Amino acid sequence: MNIKTFGVIGAGQMGNGIAQVAAASGLDVIMNDIKEEFVERGMSSIIKNLDRMVSKGKLDAAKKEEILGRIQASTNLKDMSAVDFIVEAATENEPVKMKIFRDLDEICGKETILSTNTSSIPIGRIAGNTGRPDKVIGMHFMNPVPVMKLVEVIRGIATSDETFKITWDLSEKFGKIPAEANDFPGFIANRILMPMINEAVYCLFQNVGKPDDIDTVMKLGMNHPMGPLALADLIGLDTCLAIMETLYDGFKDSKYRPCPLLRKYVEAGWLGRKTGRGFYVYD
Ligand code: CAA
Repeated sequence: MNIKTFGVIGAGQMGNGIAQVAAASGLDVIMNDIKEEFVERGMSSIIKNLDRMVSKGKLDAAKKEEILGRIQASTNLKDMSAVDFIVEAATENEPVKMKIFRDLDEICGKETILSTNTSSIPIGRIAGNTGRPDKVIGMHFMNPVPVMKLVEVIRGIATSDETFKITWDLSEKFGKIPAEANDFPGFIANRILMPMINEAVYCLFQNVGKPDDIDTVMKLGMNHPMGPLALADLIGLDTCLAIMETLYDGFKDSKYRPCPLLRKYVEAGWLGRKTGRGFYVYD
């Protein structure tokens, strides 16, 4: 199957990044969200990223226009009826994702592959909610999508080899390096990353260190590009908490219990960069 048209559900930080790399690879993209203002914000983010590349001499202005010209904004899910491949990158909320997949299953052609950028919800559960479980797969991008090389490709129990190969090849077409993971809570990336972030929050909670010190230890001591608390702010503390809950519920193992301080921050609306405050304060 030759993928030419590509749909992205969700124009947030993951969705708009995915739309950008898909359009840059030559695909015609429809980026959908529930509100006009969300899609507009997603488009502005893409324009800002492409402008930065132009100003650094990494992209010429004509190419920027070409990429933008390939992205169509949409607030009507029915616009997805003619696309070949979809990545769902809506909020990490299971009932929301389940509804989107049920709707897409009705709207899209029988051959359309429905992938999800979920960071932790089982692919088999999402697939079982559709009439095409062989065509449902996890395609998990990392934040910030235009920069990060990895795509975790996750097979559900019923995912066909053909769906897997198309998704793998598409990741490479986007200039990414795919890695295969099986369908366990958190897959590989978040099974390892989130307990580290959660432990960093415990270090803060128990006053082992201040945010700067915790991050400096991991940056300079382990050569991480950014410390775990700054990374949590980039990912979004609500997303971090949702993933820890998925690990905790999925394994029933106390080692995955979310730190109470992480929950407190989320309850206070301190979600990280996107709300201007998380473990750090942003302008
Ligand atoms: N969008 C697009 N490009 C961006 C960007 C963004 N949001 N942020 C930075 N960049 C680009 C910059 O323009 C710059 O590009 P050039 O090399 O072409 O100049 C490059 O990335 C490096 O940026 P900076 O020099 O500003 O800063 P940096 O060197 O500190 O890099 C970083 C920033 C890439 C975010 C780096 O700190 C990093 O790799 N951090 C770790 C990110 C990470 O671990 N992501 C995974 C999160 S987990 C996840 O996403 C999965 C999940 O399910 C939760």
